[in-house]
Amino acid sequence: MNRFLLVKLAAVVLFLAITISVWAYSAPNTNMSASLVPKDPTSGALVYANNCARCHGDDGEGDKGPAINTPAKQKKFRANSQGLIRKISNGGGKMPAFRTRLTPAEIRSVANFVKTL
Ligand code: HEC
Repeated sequence: MNRFLLVKLAAVVLFLAITISVWAYSAPNTNMSASLVPKDPTSGALVYANNCARCHGDDGEGDKGPAINTPAKQKKFRANSQGLIRKISNGGGKMPAFRTRLTPAEIRSVANFVKTL
């Protein structure tokens, strides 16, 4: 009986050790990625400059990606913000998906910025 108790105790201790080490290991990672986030994460202009300008140009004039500052595109984006957010989140074609690289707030703010190009 006592031996079973010991085994159970060992299992609990092992579980706690794993949980704590996983937590301890992931905590610095969280801090590290937080320091990579721009100071004002809701600044759409900054998010755009850091993530989009290399393909769509500083002013949305296009480069590797299509121009997104033309009147026709602007009209489309303003009429369908959800579609714009979906495109940024999911990418498609040669456009990378940003849902794993940006927070939902950053995606919303960069979408708002895109509509001002
Ligand atoms: C690696 C290059 C690349 C990067 C980085 C990139 N895009 Fe794109 N983007 C593209 C390409 C290529 C397309 C066209 C894809 C297609 O045919 O669907 C596109 C399409 C789009 C469209 C749809 C345009 C249309 O015609 O309706 C929007 C909006 C857009 N990108 C916004 C963004 C935003 C905002 C970012 C930054 C968060 C970004 N892109 C980052 C390459 C890129």
